Amino acid sequence: MDTRKVYIETYGCQMNIADTELLVGLLKPHGYEPTQKAEQADVILLNTCAIREHAEERVLKRLSELVRHKARKSGVLLGVTGCMAQHHREQLLDKAPYLDLILGPDAYRTLPNLLAQEETDAPLVAVRLDRDETYEDITPVRAEGIRAWVTVMRGCDKFCTFCIVPYVRGRERSVPLKPLLGQVRELAEQGYKEVVYLGQTVNAYRDGEFDFADLLRQTAKIDGIERIRFTSPHPSDISERMIETMAMLPKVSPYLHLPVQSASNRVLERMERGYTVEQYADLVGRLRRAIPGIALSTDIIAGFPGEDADDFHATRDFLERIRYDFAFMFKYSAREGTKAHKWGDTVTEDEKGRRLQAIIALQERISGEVNQAFIGQTVEVLVEGPAKRQADWLSGKNGQFKTVVFPGNGAQPGTLVSVRVATTTAHTLIGVAV
Ligand code: 5AD
Ligand code: SF4
Repeated sequence: MDTRKVYIETYGCQMNIADTELLVGLLKPHGYEPTQKAEQADVILLNTCAIREHAEERVLKRLSELVRHKARKSGVLLGVTGCMAQHHREQLLDKAPYLDLILGPDAYRTLPNLLAQEETDAPLVAVRLDRDETYEDITPVRAEGIRAWVTVMRGCDKFCTFCIVPYVRGRERSVPLKPLLGQVRELAEQGYKEVVYLGQTVNAYRDGEFDFADLLRQTAKIDGIERIRFTSPHPSDISERMIETMAMLPKVSPYLHLPVQSASNRVLERMERGYTVEQYADLVGRLRRAIPGIALSTDIIAGFPGEDADDFHATRDFLERIRYDFAFMFKYSAREGTKAHKWGDTVTEDEKGRRLQAIIALQERISGEVNQAFIGQTVEVLVEGPAKRQADWLSGKNGQFKTVVFPGNGAQPGTLVSVRVATTTAHTLIGVAV
């Protein structure tokens, strides 16, 4: 069989990065090799995100650049996969009529067949959502390194009113525990040291009587896996047993991404997040008591419909109160098909921008202060490889998922090194191996 080459560009979240590895895994047995160069590819795919308008605009612009490859050689196929394919299937064809393939997140299995079809002029479209599809039998072709991303559940049942995910990724479903643990054992044998469990609401994981806490407990028993991390948990799905489990297992990183979105109850209610500010703050208290030193990060949306100055100030004050290690912050972007879309945009783009800049600056200061507290401490770093800015330095993460850099001491990727922190920035701890 001739090998054909596939080039995939990934947009959006970790789930999409993992899905790209899955797509490569699906195509490999059919004679496709991945390539890093679009100019060498027979199949060019953009694996896309629909979470904000900006993400979609970037993809359309990129498609208009990549279309030239179709003129380079006959038979080159250009396609869009992922959330935007699912969200905007018709509009996509209007805006990019030259597309050959449009494939939603539950239709990847059809890709080899679609590619094997006789040439047709009509674009091949597969966007059926499938509430049972978990791709449990497909082995992703993973990036080399010490960290493996493992999708444990797909979809979301929460329907927060701003969010397009439940519409483009469909209902919640989990990969059964047994094949999942089998996969992780194999990863350990291949030399991976860290697994990162992925799911839109990862801690809603369930296989019969087994829940997410069970998954963590079983994973911790696998020799060779040194660290276990996961993203993104939903605050409402954090059980007491999950907290106990995290506290009890040294392999589970003392780090949690806990999206709050807003700290005004009025806004949270309209977002239909399922918790109040008080409940969320109580959860943070319980986590910090059970897991001393746990690092916390969050997501914030600025300018949700109806968010007034008081609501915004409540969120700002909450950042001061919780003192997250870091935060991802976004301007609200109305998504067609969601409940909030019907409420329009009540906050001007300018005002959203001002609110966003204000909380970004605030969080930057807080992150800097939080990191300063590490000065003089010794942290355990799982080495990943050379530091980005200085090739003779090494870089890795500590348990709290902070990037730590230090002058190279000959340590190999995948080994644990104790580093004494000398200085810090808002994003990095800098030290020397001890
Ligand atoms: N506009 C802005 N941000 C959004 N997010 C999800 N939907 C939207 C939207 N319509 C953010 C949320 C979520 C993160 C992944 O993206 O903060 O937690
Ligand atoms: Fe979107 Fe809410 Fe589901 Fe997260 S929990 S994916 S924000 S609907």
